[in-house]
Amino acid sequence: MTDEPKPASSSSPTPGHTSLEAKALAAQDRAYAPYSKFAVGAAIRMDGEEFTGINVENASYGLGVCAERTAVFNAVNAGRTTLEEVAVATNASPPSSPCGACRQVLLEFAPDPARVTITALNAKGERRSWTLAELIPDGFSGRELP
Ligand code: THU
Repeated sequence: MTDEPKPASSSSPTPGHTSLEAKALAAQDRAYAPYSKFAVGAAIRMDGEEFTGINVENASYGLGVCAERTAVFNAVNAGRTTLEEVAVATNASPPSSPCGACRQVLLEFAPDPARVTITALNAKGERRSWTLAELIPDGFSGRELP
């Protein structure tokens, strides 16, 4: 967990951000969050390819979907099944971590949750990061299913 700016990766389109972070911040502008006003953008890498997602709310509040899940469904729809890294952009300070439902959905596609890094960030440059294993220890993996 750190608030220090990270060096930009070589593939970064914006200074000071990795490619995934930049995509999460850009996606945040497309969030559909007229009810909560809490815009979330997510970017994930699955099987080497990057996908984005946003939260999509509904007038029937319970039908809203989080940005992280939208990103995962986007990637799976494109045929990718192995989660490698996640970035989530919000306006929260400190940056907010993925909800429990999203942690479970991320876990579904993480063969080794200790190797999946999740970085939460905001436009002020604050960051927090965890592994998926830290966020959902002893999660239900489905291995128990018949
Ligand atoms: N939200 C996300 O998109 N990701 C999270 O991890 C937490 C919450 C969305 C759901 C809802 O549209 C809004 O943020 C407020 O909860």
